Amino acid sequence: MVRTGSDGKLTVREVGVQYGAVAAVAGVTVEFRPGVITGLIGPNGAGKTTLLNAISGFTAMTSGTLELDGRDISPSTARARAEMGIVRGFQTVRLLERESVFDNVLVGCERLPQPPLMAQLLNLQSQRNCRARDIATVMKTLAGLGLLQDAHRLAAELPFASRRLVEIARLLLVRPKVLLLDEPAAGLDAGERRRLVDTLRSYHTEDPFTLIVIEHDVDLVRKLCADCVALAEGRVIARGSPAEVLEDPHVKVAYFGQAAHA
Ligand SMILES: Nc1ncnc2c1ncn2[C@@H]1O[C@H](COP(=O)(O)OP(=O)(O)OP(=O)(O)O)[C@@H](O)[C@H]1O
Ligand SMILES: [Mg+2]
Repeated sequence: MVRTGSDGKLTVREVGVQYGAVAAVAGVTVEFRPGVITGLIGPNGAGKTTLLNAISGFTAMTSGTLELDGRDISPSTARARAEMGIVRGFQTVRLLERESVFDNVLVGCERLPQPPLMAQLLNLQSQRNCRARDIATVMKTLAGLGLLQDAHRLAAELPFASRRLVEIARLLLVRPKVLLLDEPAAGLDAGERRRLVDTLRSYHTEDPFTLIVIEHDVDLVRKLCADCVALAEGRVIARGSPAEVLEDPHVKVAYFGQAAHA
């Protein structure tokens, strides 16, 4: 997977996911554009996680199609989609528990262009340059997330919030075309949320990719996202800037339980 500038256009067309009698996603059509951070909001049970799972291939779509940069990837497995550059975070953090924080994040760099195997084996200058680049990238990312002092600790020793940030650092270093984050700020305090927003933003500005973030914290959505999609009962009920969507009367009813005329 090598990403170039404008890659990462994701087109979701009439996608449905049915669990028995429950239509968790009920005919969603939406386009996610490269270089745009989209907030995916909606009440509990709206189908947000199911939609991300359908995009990553973790859950099978019952109907509809999915395109990445114009190519129909609906038949592709989750693994094939990950190789194409569609990368997701999990609600439960998954780390290499007996490895250091530094090594957990360094794993992400494996997907960056590396010198040929022979150069690596012979520890040639090109290999040393790449290694230096990877170390600098990891340290910069850890510093941005306030994790530098934890770099040499084992992942297993970290508190929950730091574990979540380590996972996000690792996902960012993979340089995905499309990154799907499910409630990345859950369990983080105000300072950690700020560092998370700053880090996502700075990565995104440096090298724009398609970023879709499920988030219940509307302040975070306002700060981070240029674009917002609201789901309710498996359907898109509003789309626009966060300000527009959060002011939409249908969203207020579905999400905040307020009467449309209130
Ligand atoms: N594996 C499953 N089997 C059966 N029903 C499921 C499954 N996963 C989700 N559902 C149902 O699908 C609907 C959408 O769930 P989903 O988890 O996508 O909502 P959500 O918007 O992510 O909610 P939350 O904000 O609570 O995380 C809900 O009615 C849920 O009960
Ligand atoms: Mg969810």
